[in-house]
Amino acid sequence: MFEGKKILLGITGSIAAYKAILLVRSLVKQGAEVKVVMTPAAKDFVSPLTLATLSKNPVLIDLFSEQTWSNHVMLGRWADVMLIAPLSCNTLSKMAHGNCDNLLLATYLSATCPVCVAPAMDEDMWHHPSTKRNLELIAGFGNAIIPVENGELASGLTGDGRMAEPETILTYLQEHFFFKQDLLGKKVLVTAGPTHEPIDPVRFIGNHSSGKMGVAICKELALRGAEVELVLGPSNINVTHEKIRVHKVKTASEMYDACNSLFAGTDIAIMSAAVADYSPVNLSSEKIKKTDGTLALELKRTKDILKSLGLQKQPGQLLVGFALETSNEREYAIGKLESKNADMIVLNSLNDEGAGFGHDTNKVSIFERNGKEITYERKPKQQVAHDIVDRIVNMLYA
Ligand code: CTP
Repeated sequence: MFEGKKILLGITGSIAAYKAILLVRSLVKQGAEVKVVMTPAAKDFVSPLTLATLSKNPVLIDLFSEQTWSNHVMLGRWADVMLIAPLSCNTLSKMAHGNCDNLLLATYLSATCPVCVAPAMDEDMWHHPSTKRNLELIAGFGNAIIPVENGELASGLTGDGRMAEPETILTYLQEHFFFKQDLLGKKVLVTAGPTHEPIDPVRFIGNHSSGKMGVAICKELALRGAEVELVLGPSNINVTHEKIRVHKVKTASEMYDACNSLFAGTDIAIMSAAVADYSPVNLSSEKIKKTDGTLALELKRTKDILKSLGLQKQPGQLLVGFALETSNEREYAIGKLESKNADMIVLNSLNDEGAGFGHDTNKVSIFERNGKEITYERKPKQQVAHDIVDRIVNMLYA
């Protein structure tokens, strides 16, 4: 998600500095190049050695060391974004008034890249009029401010002032600095997760789908500006994003109804759910008690959601299906393009290591109606989502 992006992370003296370790780790893992500059006070909260090791770059602290004097100007030119997280009350005040008594502040004052801050302080400090005024001042300079969260604070009290969680900060960076809004104004319907077909009040027929791939696609779509309607089968994933509306369903039939009522208003539909193909003919209202001998369950076909949307598809609407195969993958995937009237089929093979259900990685091939076929390497699901959405955008504007 951050491939090739250059992030300059400024860390100031605050208990929340420990979260900077997670920030550096996630940024590097997601392909960013990270350099860290700390205030002298920050050293008391988090070890420069840890940050240097994780960022694979020396950590810069001293304003007057021979090597760093020229660095402060170059750092702000090198970076795509300077992120100051956590931002203490003291550094905020110095930023607001142009003080320059450490390397972080010198770098901030000379930065030509955008600057974004994640404040962290106790609630009373947060609500102090001087803090408010200082925040208004730095916002007026064009600095982006990531809102604090409400929760447990270093003082032991609960209230406003907690630094935003690393994941929230990363999403903020992506949304505000890195993502092309190439799906702005587009509505997308996505299905994700398994379905559960009840047998009796305590049992169901299900599958191993976690919903991770579909949710990753929703996040990518939202980051690129789309309004997303997610029809989500039973899954433990908690999705909270202002551009993703979640419709929770349990059965294939509920998923069918939700999709059919939403499809007409959408530009793109992506069916990534692992929908049960069969459900029990009879649903027992009481728990089925065991008996000697065997038990036969009679099953009926569920309605094929992808196929039904393919039949209703209007010019300008784009329909994407998934296929999970164990043999003759290519042939089956191409067959599904035709039989479902889809524009694209994303194939994952259970024969590929680290692909399919439950994993955090996936390996896919994409088959397009125009005959194009692309096979990708195994990647984290969020990056797979990026590749899939790239192909969709390409097809949308072809
Ligand atoms: N799908 C659906 N409704 C169903 C079943 C599947 O919309 N009742 C969608 C899935 O979300 C996926 C695609 O159809 O996008 C998978 O195609 P499908 O032919 O159903 O695959 P399989 O279930 O593997 O079926 P088959 O046994 O024919 O391979």
